[in-house]
Amino acid sequence: MIIKSKFKDYEVVITQTDSFIQNISSPLAFYVIDKIVYELYPSLFKHISPEALYLLDATEINKTIDTALDICEKITDIPAKRNTLLISCGGGIVQDVTGFVANIMYRGIKWIFIPTTLLAAADSCIGGKTSLNYKKFKNLLGTFYPPDIIYIYPKFFDTLTPYDYTSGLGEVVKFNVMTGLNGLVNMEQNLEKLLNKDKITIQNFLETSLQFKKYFIEIDEFDKGQRILLNFAHTFGHAFEVTSQYHIPHGSAVAIGMLVANHIAVLRNLLSKEIALRIESLVKGIVILELKKEWFNLDEIIIVIRKDKKQTSTALTAILLNSQFDLAVFNDIKPEEIALSVENIIQNVLNLK
Ligand SMILES: NC(=O)c1ccc[n+]([C@@H]2O[C@H](COP(=O)([O-])OP(=O)(O)OC[C@H]3O[C@@H](n4cnc5c(N)ncnc54)[C@H](O)[C@@H]3O)[C@@H](O)[C@H]2O)c1
Ligand SMILES: [Zn+2]
Repeated sequence: MIIKSKFKDYEVVITQTDSFIQNISSPLAFYVIDKIVYELYPSLFKHISPEALYLLDATEINKTIDTALDICEKITDIPAKRNTLLISCGGGIVQDVTGFVANIMYRGIKWIFIPTTLLAAADSCIGGKTSLNYKKFKNLLGTFYPPDIIYIYPKFFDTLTPYDYTSGLGEVVKFNVMTGLNGLVNMEQNLEKLLNKDKITIQNFLETSLQFKKYFIEIDEFDKGQRILLNFAHTFGHAFEVTSQYHIPHGSAVAIGMLVANHIAVLRNLLSKEIALRIESLVKGIVILELKKEWFNLDEIIIVIRKDKKQTSTALTAILLNSQFDLAVFNDIKPEEIALSVENIIQNVLNLK
């Protein structure tokens, strides 16, 4: 799959070849690798010398400018400099940090991204966004800087914890719901197979998710127009990540965010209860982590939403779905509506007492 970009067109390659990392290695390469992945797959990385390697402890707390600068510092020690090829291997956190580094280092060096989580492979690897957390704000700092090429090696998903794997499914469910009734039905019919990590099913959903995202990022690469629709469920999802102090991973937070958006849409008579319930049942199937009520502090949620970078005025903005599966931006969302819907979701859907 080729993604058209103002920077350069770039390709997504799905590979099953165990030696693919070795095959792309170069004397100019500098590697940033997720520490857990490096330990789980020693044979894939044995050719890498310690001077050309940075192991990243992939936590939201480390997704900062300090970590980015630490990597820059290490790159300045290697001889390649401007010709450095940054090879980044990990999930969305490693991607966000390395994309940022590749962009600012010598005003932009080449980089290759190898997603190792379902979320990164099915969603974040394309689109070119780089993001860092700043103080209490999720993804506040960032740029656009797509990789030169992306290699997806689905075997990486075998070792994901159920918690991280199902977080990735959160974004996959979101994409499918956004595509319309067929997407919803497709998801309902295949959820069990996806939960059982059926290889062919995963690959099909990977491709359709990326294909769906490709449409939006190609028409609006810099997020000035239609791409904002991809933010469906994220206004609330980002808030839950922050108010749970990142105990709720990104994709799971987005899945719960979708329930809140849908509840508001039902109250506004935009979305039928029947569709909302079908989506709810999918989300319940994939949010497996034990949620705590204190992660959903209503006052804090509203404060965080107000500070979200997508909010441009005093009224709150969110994207809502209707019964025809059209998405639209609403700039008149009231804090009371959000509070009511979050309350309903945590009590009646997630059963948090
Ligand atoms: N840039 C974008 O467009 C974009 C889009 C969506 C999400 N994001 C960001 O992505 C981040 C979430 O990324 P994520 O869900 O990919 O996970 P992650 O990078 O947070 O990794 C989750 C955990 O899985 C581990 N891990 C990674 N690959 C593994 C493997 N193959 N086997 C076992 N463990 C593995 C990591 O070490 C980590 O502990 C969030 O910070 C989110 O904001 C960015
Ligand atoms: Zn997301």
